[in-house]
Amino acid sequence: MGVEIVRRLAELRGIVADWRGQGFRVGVVPTMGALHEGHLSLVRAALVKTDRVIVTLFVNPKQFNSAADLAAYPRTENDDAAKLAPLGAHVLYVPDGDQMYPPGFATTVSVEGVSEGLCGARRPGHFDGVSTVVTKLLLQTGGDFAFFGEKDFQQLHVVRRLVTDLDIPIEIVGCPTIREADGVAMSSRNVHLSAAERAIAPALAKALFEASDRIAKGASVPDEIETARSRILAAGYETVEYLELRGEDDLKPMPVLDRPGRLLAAAVLGSTRLIDNVPVSVGRR
Ligand code: PAF
Repeated sequence: MGVEIVRRLAELRGIVADWRGQGFRVGVVPTMGALHEGHLSLVRAALVKTDRVIVTLFVNPKQFNSAADLAAYPRTENDDAAKLAPLGAHVLYVPDGDQMYPPGFATTVSVEGVSEGLCGARRPGHFDGVSTVVTKLLLQTGGDFAFFGEKDFQQLHVVRRLVTDLDIPIEIVGCPTIREADGVAMSSRNVHLSAAERAIAPALAKALFEASDRIAKGASVPDEIETARSRILAAGYETVEYLELRGEDDLKPMPVLDRPGRLLAAAVLGSTRLIDNVPVSVGRR
């Protein structure tokens, strides 16, 4: 049996109310579609932890910085539904545009602190768009648990913050980044890479993992960041937008490794912007 596709909020609410009547715990996996193994790992985690799983698919115009980027974003609803069916996800919620942003819509959810710097500095308004749509999706689905990938590590922090601050009764579950065999973090944007760019792409993850290892063993944070940046550029990336060590738990800048950290980077390859991050552990000298 295929996954049930729902496009109207009233119908979704009816289904969830029925599940609640039967005592089911509900898991939510928010996506913008173009599903890959990373998304499917979130769905599997949701199926383990909950009784009923809603995957949401909405390409959110409010979180794109350019109309061209929005237009180029892959849209593959039929393929996405086909990938979800064998896993046993219960509902694919593909809200019609007016279910998310009806005429007159005038509210923005804006998270301070963790949304600043990194992607927040490079993509003005991006996290307001993410925060607004995620708030709506969590309230619309009324789930008990929502699953987000660590690949978008800053986004995960932003979502945790808004859920806490707005008292949304849902638990956020962060799930590990899924990588290709050569280390490239899975992303819907990888389809935009040419064959030549795809061959260069692993340099980003490789530089991050090597820097993480050396920092954990006591090497200087600024030196390792500089080395990693040079290696990424030498491999063929056009620019490194940022490469920073931040606190794992608070996302604050960390000039020295004095607690668990995350190395986070964004780099541009051809016309594709890729982001990645790796943990940096303490006490491995
Ligand atoms: O990570 C994504 O795919 C999106 O930012 C999300 C969380 C589905 C909100 O549109």
